[in-house]
Amino acid sequence: PKSFRVVVLPGDGIGPEVVAEAVRVLEVVSEKSSNFKLSLESHLFGGSAIDASGEPLPASTLKACQEADAILMGSIGGPKWGVNAKVRPEQGLLALRKTLGLYANIRPASLASESLLDYSPLRPEIALGVDMIVVRELIGGVYFGARKEQNVEPDVNVAWDTMIYSVEEVQRITRVAAQIALAANPPLVIHSIDKANVLASSRLWRKVVTETLTKEYPQLKFDHHLVDSAAMVIVSNPRKLNGVILTENLFGDILSDQSSVIPGSLGLLPSASLAGAPSVPSPNFKPTSGLYEPIHGSAPDIAGQGIANPIGTILSAAMLLRYSLGLEEPARAIELAVQRVLDNPEAGGYGLRTADLGGKVKTKGIGDKIVEVLHS
Ligand code: NAD
Ligand code: IPM
Ligand code: MN
Repeated sequence: PKSFRVVVLPGDGIGPEVVAEAVRVLEVVSEKSSNFKLSLESHLFGGSAIDASGEPLPASTLKACQEADAILMGSIGGPKWGVNAKVRPEQGLLALRKTLGLYANIRPASLASESLLDYSPLRPEIALGVDMIVVRELIGGVYFGARKEQNVEPDVNVAWDTMIYSVEEVQRITRVAAQIALAANPPLVIHSIDKANVLASSRLWRKVVTETLTKEYPQLKFDHHLVDSAAMVIVSNPRKLNGVILTENLFGDILSDQSSVIPGSLGLLPSASLAGAPSVPSPNFKPTSGLYEPIHGSAPDIAGQGIANPIGTILSAAMLLRYSLGLEEPARAIELAVQRVLDNPEAGGYGLRTADLGGKVKTKGIGDKIVEVLHS
């Protein structure tokens, strides 16, 4: 059997709790298959790494990530390492993404089970049928532009951040969005989101997106939305944005958390961060290493209670199998098991819910049931 090396970064807060369930799920699919074996190794990352070594991304962790076939992460950060600390867990995550060149962040937001419609804060007829994939540029823009807190004695009194994009950076993320759109049948519509009525970087974004799609992908439909109006549409008429939402780093961060509430909870949604377009499993599969993580954070308000929803992380593990290891079958099996556990009994499922979805089932209870379904 083929053997794959997966680095696991549990991180902080609820990170270790949700990762533990995803690891169990990966171990089950690995044990069940005679075609592949996974070797999983955990490394320190984020706040826990700061506590142990003084830095959020120790050299040994980075090296392991660089040598791995794929990386599964929980979440990092928390009040212990607050926004005013000099060394912060979030710096480690940004450094990891940047060093590995993971410019394409793929965040699908769709209903994992129709029985979740009742949990959406939107009315069911508005949330029904929402199916969007956020494609967020991940290593450019205001996250990585020049930043300064200027000391004019005795205090900082001016600070700035620079939102900067190059033609090449916009082109490559546009191509990823296009390839994702083309992989669907019929191809998905691309909605590019910017603030071109104010920002220079957005005017460049809009121009390059238009040129790249028109020249290289004439078969694809696309449109442009201003980010303020798009934020309104996501909650008023989200199906209007079905398809691929292509946007820059900061807008994508905000809009992906916002769209996560449509299926009911931030705790449900997975993500993949890749150094290129995802290659779907096929005889020509080209593996690409990637970082897989739920889109939520370390949830300090519920950490340590064993009540976090592990599904976003478990679905991230499924994306890892599909995109980095080319293993469609176990990926699909995990997604179906998740759906079964969420589906109501009338739909042939178990209707299990963690607290974020109004239920009482604990993190481990969800993991137990998914493992049981995978074994059955
Ligand atoms: P958060 O995403 O951690 O939490 C927002 C809200 O959603 C909280 O009420 C939390 O309880 C809830 N929530 C999140 N995940 C959940 C889950 N799986 N199950 C049930 N409820 C869940 O955002 P925050 O509180 O603003 O940030 C906390 C820390 O996490 C910060 O330090 C932030 O920088 C960090 N963060 C890290 C990542 C990451 O590691 N990729 C992502 C986002 C935020
Ligand atoms: C995310 C997080 C990160 C981001 C933080 C923790 C740096 O919010 O993955 O969405 O802003 O990208
Ligand atoms: Mn975020």
